[in-house]
Amino acid sequence: MKYDFTTKLERIGHDALAVDAPYNYQAPFDSIQRKEGFSIIPMWIADMNFPVYPNIQKSIIERVNHPTFGYYSIRDEYYEAIINWHKNRYGIEYIQKENIGYENGVLGGLLSALSILAKPGDSVLLHSPTYIGFTMSIKNAGYNIIHSNLKFEDTWRIDYQDMEEKIQKNHIQVAIFANPHNPCGRAWEKEELEKLMAIFEKYHVYVISDEIWADLYLYNNKHIPLHSLNEYAKQHTISLYAPSKTFNLSGLIGAYHIIFNDYLHKRILKASSKSHYNSMNVLSMHALIGAYDKDGAIWVDELKAVLTQNMDYATQFIDEHFQGVRYAKPQATYMLYLDCKDYCEKNQITIDTLLERAYSVGVYFQDGRPFNLDHSIRINLALPYETIKEAFNRLKDYVFI
Ligand SMILES: Cc1ncc(COP(=O)(O)O)c(C=O)c1O
Repeated sequence: MKYDFTTKLERIGHDALAVDAPYNYQAPFDSIQRKEGFSIIPMWIADMNFPVYPNIQKSIIERVNHPTFGYYSIRDEYYEAIINWHKNRYGIEYIQKENIGYENGVLGGLLSALSILAKPGDSVLLHSPTYIGFTMSIKNAGYNIIHSNLKFEDTWRIDYQDMEEKIQKNHIQVAIFANPHNPCGRAWEKEELEKLMAIFEKYHVYVISDEIWADLYLYNNKHIPLHSLNEYAKQHTISLYAPSKTFNLSGLIGAYHIIFNDYLHKRILKASSKSHYNSMNVLSMHALIGAYDKDGAIWVDELKAVLTQNMDYATQFIDEHFQGVRYAKPQATYMLYLDCKDYCEKNQITIDTLLERAYSVGVYFQDGRPFNLDHSIRINLALPYETIKEAFNRLKDYVFI
């Protein structure tokens, strides 16, 4: 490998919620004491434990070395980097500068998008299990969430009939879609997306497509941007992206939307400007430019190979040692979502017991219940391979016992 995915980084004291929250016993880790001798292995929040792609640091440092930080306008290189990235990584040739707009985070963009498509109190369709950030931000903004449950078959599948009934019954005009899906790790197939979009078209539903995980596909699965399906999709989708998930830049803040419908685009720019808060930090701009280059693509390909290896290791380990734990093998993201219902019933324990046992030996995975599935756990596998092995051995010896 050209890049470093093996160094075990010390993140404590370096502004990392992933380790600081357990280290300082902040919620949700406040009530369980970690036993002596167990290091913290952060497997909860969606960030990574690898050194960043070096050109990102270089790009930021070069900018920091110039001693002025006044008001600025967005560089053309920012837009060019995004246009080229989408062309080279997802095969999309038709994005223009005018289709791109900055967002303070994908969730910020989601709320701006919702504000132009619905009013508080209106119903919004989401698939469930649902990313916890959607649930919290959409509820806080006063919208009514209608969940259509994914079906657990050979993998997680959309229940089209349920979706259609809910759209009709609740007069839904807006849906939020995670492409690929967090926490289930689904890389949606073209036919699935087409069927989904046909239902949206039938009821004239607009879609906010969260594609923040677009770069992190495993096993040669490929990203299909929702807007690329057909003309209806292109005109009725607000797509959200960010380099933050791909390159681990969440602390720098910075996402962007891509919109092809001119009216929607103008409306969202107006909506997000009203807070006077939706503007980019100059270092975040340089981080994106540094990330989205040719070697950045090599870094991402190497990262995906590492994540795939970790996913294979983890799922094989579970098959061998944790009888009764169910999962659909993720095709994208670095999250592994486990259904522990049968395991808990068989062993007469609760999911809280599993969490307590894990936290007491330093394995900080995430309670999966807030994602809308009882008895579930979400495990972040974006750590060096050796750390993944250490974590799963601790789980075998002290948690799934
Ligand atoms: C599907 C999804 N959307 C949005 C976010 C958060 O994005 P941001 O930090 O840019 O608001 C995450 C973070 O994990 C995510 O998984």
